[in-house]
Amino acid sequence: MTITQATGVTFTYRGADHPSITDATITITPGTVTLLCGASGSGKTTALRLFNGLIPHFHDGDLTGSVTVDDIDVARVDLSELAHHCSTVFQNPRTQFYTTHVRQELAFGPENLGRAPQEICARIDEVAAELGIADLLESRVTQLSGGQMQRVACAVAMCNNTSLIVFDEPTANLSADLIGQLATLIARLKADGHTIIIAEHRLSFLSGIADRVYCFDKGKIALTATGEEFYAASDEERKQLGLRSLVTVSMPQLPEPAGEGLTIDNLTFAYRQGKTVLNVDHALFPAGKITALLGPCGSGKSTLARIVCGLEKAKHASITLNGQKFPSRAAYLVMQDPTRQLFSDTVIGPDPRKVDTS
Ligand SMILES: Nc1ncnc2c1ncn2[C@@H]1O[C@H](COP(=O)(O)OP(=O)(O)O)[C@@H](O)[C@H]1O
Ligand SMILES: [Mg+2]
Repeated sequence: MTITQATGVTFTYRGADHPSITDATITITPGTVTLLCGASGSGKTTALRLFNGLIPHFHDGDLTGSVTVDDIDVARVDLSELAHHCSTVFQNPRTQFYTTHVRQELAFGPENLGRAPQEICARIDEVAAELGIADLLESRVTQLSGGQMQRVACAVAMCNNTSLIVFDEPTANLSADLIGQLATLIARLKADGHTIIIAEHRLSFLSGIADRVYCFDKGKIALTATGEEFYAASDEERKQLGLRSLVTVSMPQLPEPAGEGLTIDNLTFAYRQGKTVLNVDHALFPAGKITALLGPCGSGKSTLARIVCGLEKAKHASITLNGQKFPSRAAYLVMQDPTRQLFSDTVIGPDPRKVDTS
């Protein structure tokens, strides 16, 4: 039996003052699903990088202990060799695309692995049909919605068809129905004999699918359990580990509304040369209330937010706040992918008192 395992691993990123992973031993049985969970910043992504080789081949730092994938010592082989064994679906799929169009992107991995062209084409069609992305094959990757990107990233891993597939927070951009589809897909990949490692803080969709669970707390493995033991634990026990409850969170009390709110009338919008993606006769977002925009991936939720913030122009639309024309600069947007909105190298940024204005 092949061995995929991290043994006594401690890793400190170059320049960091403490390790992000401390003395971790993770044993992966072939053909199973392993869930790595824990609070944000607890080390889940770092642990995945041990297996896909980004540590030590891309991220510099001090590494002790050993990591093997399919019996290969990860530190001793090139990433190009490891690519035959492991594919990754990144937390932010936008960062993993190399090409401009979906079909090219799906072909890119297997082409680099030296597979035959006919085999690659057949595999792309098969995977695209299975993931429901056949109609996206000729699309530009930059024009996909967050959820569509996530599905294309899953399709890339499936086209590579490696024994090990690692997923970093794969549900981050998915609507509820697509999370259900992802669960089915992961169960299918497992049934086909793939070995899966998933870093997630959404837990419930992997109930009945995860075989083994490792919970991280500040870089240390705080708990190891079988899937059955983990999902039988109480919400209180899970909370103590900083993990998401499996039940829905209750709504906070909101202050009394002031004013009428934001009104949108006669909005139609199409991206350049594309079909109409939004058609809204009238919508009211009441003041003092939280309005959720629901809808499948690609249905126009982010586009509407971009229009309200002035990032896209809908020519004939009327957008008013309490009856007055709404100045788009009065809106703030927390983007789906926060890395696209951060400008500075450090959280505090340059000290405004030290900026030279002369
Ligand atoms: N490229 C990096 N360079 C330096 N520190 C990092 C890097 N990536 C993550 N870290 C740090 O490692 C710790 C664990 O992060 P991460 O593995 O991303 O956690 P998680 O995936 O559980 O949110 C955090 O303290 C984070 O700031
Ligand atoms: Mg992470």
